Amino acid sequence: MSVLERLEDAVAGDPRLARIPDPAVVVIFGATGDLTRRKLVPALYSLATQQLLPPELCVVGVSRRDLSHDEFRAAMREAVKTHGHSDIDEALWEGFARRLSYVPGGFDDAEAYDRLRAHLETLDAERGARGNRLFYLSAAPEFFGPIARGIAGAGLNPREQTDSYVRLVIEKPFGVDLASARQLNDELEPLFPEESVYRIDHYLGKEAVQNLFVLRFANTIFEPLWNRQYVDHVQITVAENIGVGTRGGYYDTSGATRDILQNHALQVLSLVAMEPPSAFDADRIRDEKVKVLRAIPAIDAASPLHAVRARYTAGWHEGRQVAGYLDEQSVPPESITETYSALKVEVDNARWAGVPFFLRTGKRLPQRVTELTIQFSNVPHMPLPDGVRSTAEANRLIVRIQPDEGASLRFVSKVPGPRLDVRPVGMDFAYGNTFLRESPSAYERLLLDCLLGDPTLFARWDEVERAWEIVDPLLQEWSKGGTLAEYEAGTWGPPEAGALIGPEREWKPG
Ligand code: BG6
Repeated sequence: MSVLERLEDAVAGDPRLARIPDPAVVVIFGATGDLTRRKLVPALYSLATQQLLPPELCVVGVSRRDLSHDEFRAAMREAVKTHGHSDIDEALWEGFARRLSYVPGGFDDAEAYDRLRAHLETLDAERGARGNRLFYLSAAPEFFGPIARGIAGAGLNPREQTDSYVRLVIEKPFGVDLASARQLNDELEPLFPEESVYRIDHYLGKEAVQNLFVLRFANTIFEPLWNRQYVDHVQITVAENIGVGTRGGYYDTSGATRDILQNHALQVLSLVAMEPPSAFDADRIRDEKVKVLRAIPAIDAASPLHAVRARYTAGWHEGRQVAGYLDEQSVPPESITETYSALKVEVDNARWAGVPFFLRTGKRLPQRVTELTIQFSNVPHMPLPDGVRSTAEANRLIVRIQPDEGASLRFVSKVPGPRLDVRPVGMDFAYGNTFLRESPSAYERLLLDCLLGDPTLFARWDEVERAWEIVDPLLQEWSKGGTLAEYEAGTWGPPEAGALIGPEREWKPG
């Protein structure tokens, strides 16, 4: 099928997807790692099966392990089969596998970057990759700086006055605190200008997160109510039912606040609270998001009414007994790392002054669910006669980010019958039975956007820096010790989180 025919097909299916990226080479540093196997290569394969990649696109894996091209291809075939494509199409795979190749080398080995450069030049000449490069840093964060220097050392970083592009995609965590994030950014800045850096927050690739923008700004009915006059409070929950599994070593250096709240939850918050941008443009949108983050005043880290951290103890998960955090693999016995974090955040601006935003995340909670709740205020006066049986509750909009993406709106209705009884009812929208097509994975969307040069769904440096400024004082306070509450695995977190949200309000779900 010609590129033109593919284009026409794509237009017929989905106009956005009509944009097929230019030829390029995607270079993945950390090619034998978990993320490459579970997400990146399956996402690239999926894009290829939908004919959304140009035929010239090549993928080069770089890692310390000594693998041949064929061994790398075999490992990636296994990865694609295990992660989402169990019924792999052999003919398609053959075509995809021909795009894959491998360059072994340590991340601080200058010769490895020279070998990489030579390999990339061969791909340009033989496959028509046109000098376009997407360097994907999927290695451990301590290697981000050395890899960027290695790329630049081999003269592979962006050059002025060329027709080709060089982009650097960086996985989270971007730093482990404010100081290290600034240091990393200072290191990158002279080598990779901001417009060439794509900082991944995979939550922004989730359909229901992108839909927040459309829900708010392409409908008339929500935006007029989206403010302090009608909203009592907002909740953002990122709950996981898994424990830390085999990631205890990494997780113990991170904790729930760094791992989820600093990035995913604050990104969702900024989309929920932002002002409408003047145009659908990457920088106009990110300008508005960063204004929200700047309007968040310091959180009182020492007050349990503003910040609660906790860790799970032994409990139950899906009918079987599970270990407490301290008994997980590679977690040191003296650990003070939190596996649960809840914050009460204010957004001090004209739209939101006085409306609390409650954020929480945790491992080993009862369910895997990410949800946004807009809790509207009570009606000022309920004109119902005395003696009415009423379980009226205030309106609530719930946006389900995962699983079962969708939204539901709760309002009060009269119960049928001769009496004037009222109770809450719901209107529900689910992606699954509305669109009858599967949402692309977050990584598919984000990889395609990087290849297209669209940074809208990537975190700009000022957003990342401001998010660190918000959580850094908490992390500093907690590193001194202080209260670390506990909750039993399989429950909705510690009682202290109930006190944080207050007696008048309740966590949903919970
Ligand atoms: C990652 C965190 O960023 O997000 C993990 O490092 C977490 O600890 C994961 O499990 C959750 O992502 P998702 O897409 O499954 O909600």
